[in-house]
Amino acid sequence: MATNRTFTMLKPDAIENGYLGKVLDMIVGAGFEIKAMKYTRLSEDEAKKFYEVHAERPFYGELVEYMTSGPIVAAILEKDNAVADFRALIGATDPAEAEEGTIRKSYAESKAKNAVHGSDSDENAAIEGEFHFNAAEIF
Ligand code: CMP
Repeated sequence: MATNRTFTMLKPDAIENGYLGKVLDMIVGAGFEIKAMKYTRLSEDEAKKFYEVHAERPFYGELVEYMTSGPIVAAILEKDNAVADFRALIGATDPAEAEEGTIRKSYAESKAKNAVHGSDSDENAAIEGEFHFNAAEIF
């Protein structure tokens, strides 16, 4: 059964390019409630651990380097059908393939610098949320 929470990160390119406010506006405007939020920068160890599932992929090193290159915003979001609805809002991994009106179509630079992360399952949403937030930081 689908749960009602997902996890997101606004990635370094979105912050660097000045899209923090615009992306948050799209997220809230689409009906997601912010349950937790943090402006932070991932250490190399944190980025490696967060993306451990991609460790064997050829882009892993580039991904870790990029995700530690500047600040990010991490957040837990709540809405009915959160995981699927959020993935629809952000669009395909590669912005060239993302639909009009999606966050990545509007604000992402490339497949690697793709502006925003969205959990791919309820299970990963819970794991990723717990990676970044303790119980006292979730409202
Ligand atoms: P995301 O889906 O949030 O999590 C995995 C990330 O790996 C993905 O976003 C991209 O930022 C990155 N990624 C996926 N495929 C590639 C690729 N072919 N080259 C570089 N980065 C990639």
